[in-house]
Amino acid sequence: MNEAGQFIPLDWWKVIFNPSFPYRLVHMVLAAYLTTAFVVGAVGAWHLLKNTAPRRSRTMFSMAMWMATIVAPIQIMAGDFHGLNTLEHQPVKVMAMEGHFDSHPDGAPLILFGIPNTAEKRIDYAIEIPKFSSLILKHDLNAPLAGLDTIPDNLEPPVAVVFWSFRVMVGIGFAMLGIGLWSLWCRVRGTLDSSDWLHRAAVLMGPAGFVAVLAGWITTEVGRQPYTIYGQLLTANSISPVAAPAVAASLIAFIIVYFLVFGAGTFYILRLMKRLPRDPMPDLDDGPIRTSGIMPGPATGHTHGSAHHGH
Ligand code: HEM
Repeated sequence: MNEAGQFIPLDWWKVIFNPSFPYRLVHMVLAAYLTTAFVVGAVGAWHLLKNTAPRRSRTMFSMAMWMATIVAPIQIMAGDFHGLNTLEHQPVKVMAMEGHFDSHPDGAPLILFGIPNTAEKRIDYAIEIPKFSSLILKHDLNAPLAGLDTIPDNLEPPVAVVFWSFRVMVGIGFAMLGIGLWSLWCRVRGTLDSSDWLHRAAVLMGPAGFVAVLAGWITTEVGRQPYTIYGQLLTANSISPVAAPAVAASLIAFIIVYFLVFGAGTFYILRLMKRLPRDPMPDLDDGPIRTSGIMPGPATGHTHGSAHHGH
């Protein structure tokens, strides 16, 4: 902090390679792999359900499901390590994620679901496993865990948002694991290509990665409120002296540009997904192999009639 009370980054390397950097990097890269795998898997599953280009769709689906089987459990482990790191550096965020309004001196419960009641400072209709949060976060069933009651009200993050976004992310993580294990089961039994229910579930899970990434991001950013620099600089004190109309104008510009860019992108990607996957090899499932000409030539798949007209 300089004499004027402003925060100045003296060492950018320390800002970038902060203590949570390795955890965030690993968790985010795995998130990107999983998101992509589930999009690819959904497209493959869609084509398998429609029975279009089955050989290529099978490869696509199989690769995506390997990714789910292998990477989803790794992601859950990485998320667990990430949470331990968060507990060390941003403990109040973890209190909000866990929904711990109260301190628990002898073992905190793991609240699976419930409705955060911020006014009364409790979780209504909580379904919880006693002492399990202490086990996960401290590796000891009876370890004490401080709650939001140790934090002044005005320094608490919006608990409900963090509580829910965290559950959406973790819920999708476990759903991805479920699909991975289900597909492994089908693979072992030889029904990976024929299990309609697995394919339907995979189509449904196509956008799940994007939702999980957004939920994770919301957990991270809302969870660190009301600070921009944790414990040091309040968000309310970080605003720049820019007049409201200027902010509004640039926000509207963002909305328009993003709407156009993402709109066009979504349209384009959906069209790509609808098209048959193509590769230079003949697809045995798509029809008989035809050779062209008098000499036995290389096998070709569909010739679409173009080579055989009128010559
Ligand atoms: C059981 C599974 C999971 C656990 C335990 C978990 C745990 C966590 C934790 C503790 C945070 C960080 C909060 C913070 O300190 O800021 C986080 C953030 C995040 N998570 Fe997860 N996560 C899980 C699954 C997933 C999945 C499946 C995805 C995406 C496919 C995902 C994507 C993200 C993203 C994008 C962030 C924000 C990272 C950042 O901005 O630094 N997570 N997760």
